[in-house]
Amino acid sequence: MDVEVIPAILVKSREELLAQIEKVKPSVTTVHIDIMDNVFVPNKTIGLEGLTNLPSGILYEFHWMVKDPENWISKVPGKHMHLVHVEAISDWNKIEKARVDGGEIGLAINPPTPIETLYPYIKNKAVKKVLLMTVNPGFCGQKYIPEVESKINALRAKFPELEIEVDGGINPETSERASEAGANILAASSAIFMAKNISEAVQNIYESGIRGRNKSQSCWCEKITEVVNVPKLITEPPKQTLLEIGSSVGVGATKVTDIKKLYLLSNNIRQSIVKMLHAAKSGHPAGSMGLADVFTALYFNVLNHDPKNPDWECRDRFILSNGHVCPGLYASMAEAGYFPKEELMTLRKLGSRLQGHPHRGTLPGIENSSGPLGQGLSIAIGMALVAKREKKSWRVYCVCSDGEHNEGQIWEAALLASKYKLGNLVAIMDRNNIQIDGFTEDVLPIEPLEEKYRAFGWHVINIDGHNIQQIISACDEAKTIIDKPTMIIAHTVPGKDISFMEFITAWHGKSPGDKEATTALEDLEEERKFYRDQEKE
Ligand code: DX5
Ligand code: ZN
Repeated sequence: MDVEVIPAILVKSREELLAQIEKVKPSVTTVHIDIMDNVFVPNKTIGLEGLTNLPSGILYEFHWMVKDPENWISKVPGKHMHLVHVEAISDWNKIEKARVDGGEIGLAINPPTPIETLYPYIKNKAVKKVLLMTVNPGFCGQKYIPEVESKINALRAKFPELEIEVDGGINPETSERASEAGANILAASSAIFMAKNISEAVQNIYESGIRGRNKSQSCWCEKITEVVNVPKLITEPPKQTLLEIGSSVGVGATKVTDIKKLYLLSNNIRQSIVKMLHAAKSGHPAGSMGLADVFTALYFNVLNHDPKNPDWECRDRFILSNGHVCPGLYASMAEAGYFPKEELMTLRKLGSRLQGHPHRGTLPGIENSSGPLGQGLSIAIGMALVAKREKKSWRVYCVCSDGEHNEGQIWEAALLASKYKLGNLVAIMDRNNIQIDGFTEDVLPIEPLEEKYRAFGWHVINIDGHNIQQIISACDEAKTIIDKPTMIIAHTVPGKDISFMEFITAWHGKSPGDKEATTALEDLEEERKFYRDQEKE
């Protein structure tokens, strides 16, 4: 079985698309076009209007990361490969019927989804190609998830003739691993388009794919036995308490500028969140995990604050509107030194200062009480108005959720903020596409958010809510906008870095049990390795 390299194109406009195609056309036979609807994944790409009359002389595979693929495929006629996510299939017949002029259907699958989900389609529906995501879908430039290799293994063993593609974080190093595991098609974006010499980059990935494939054919069976052994679950409590593990980097109000250190801190905070919620046996992990990078950027770089003097007059004010994600806030404040980390274990306990929703006046450093949604922005505007009127230099930051935009009050507040040209106000929206009862666009569609806030007179910045550098740069950009409030739409993954939580709405308000907490800590320790290794470099 030969190895094939397919450049993955993730763009927002037709111009960009045509430009990327031109760049790779001399080196490959097929290109992979990512399509996202900002519902199935927290990002939006080029739409149908940009996909007609594409250049000839090259084959196209469309990677549909959309909630209703049948409604897209039917509008892109031609002998294309349509990769549909098994997680988005509601009615297979509709998908089949949607093909026009000889299109073919392949299946794509996200890292957390069990591989067995695909088997019936491969067996009965004659699906010849499967794409395994080796990152969580939504962005390019993410880190390859090695755990997916056991799924590739299982699939290759079961279906020796199947075309197995991998997509996400593919580069010469990871393509060798993925091919050794059994993949024969390698989709890559940043490793190709960021390279100085594109055809050389394609060649490098191809060669390492061949190396991996050659290695795999020699010891195929051995590998399988090895893979099926599930990891030993930690039953006895970890020797070093999580909080001790977490404090290796510790800082006060000094600004941390080393991005790797910041990621280690956000990992500490995620570990604390798991421990707290496990101990409390209730609470909200998905949003807390999703916002850990935003909290880290704020408490360790952006905010002017002093944990030793929470009421410092010149401090920036931080308002949390979606109060239920306070485990993330508490963990960040403890990490920054507002109170001892041991106190985190009292979350939701009677008499504790760390209640399920934050309470102003109980815990130093908490600027507002919250829980009932949609109110934080109003409070933040009140504070920003005072600062503006009294010519104070401190700024106001307000984190709110996307689901909160079901509340009318938040839009009234948005109107008022632009009326008073509050350039000292920054709102950060946790755009994770979920709320307690499902996907935001199912419950009450709020898009297009960007256009809405612009129309309300705000400066709007769209970012990857897990890219700490982007978070900091967006806050810096907001400081240059004097006469408008700024809305930073941070696209986040609910349950970020926890393999069994990511994108699963059920984890909005459920705490992890013993086994889940152990697995979650393992996931985070794995994440940590990546940064710790870099730290040593
Ligand atoms: C992610 C997309 C991938 C992505 C690959 O959801 O499906 O195709 O663009 O980008 P890299 O290769 O940079 O990880
Ligand atoms: Zn893709």
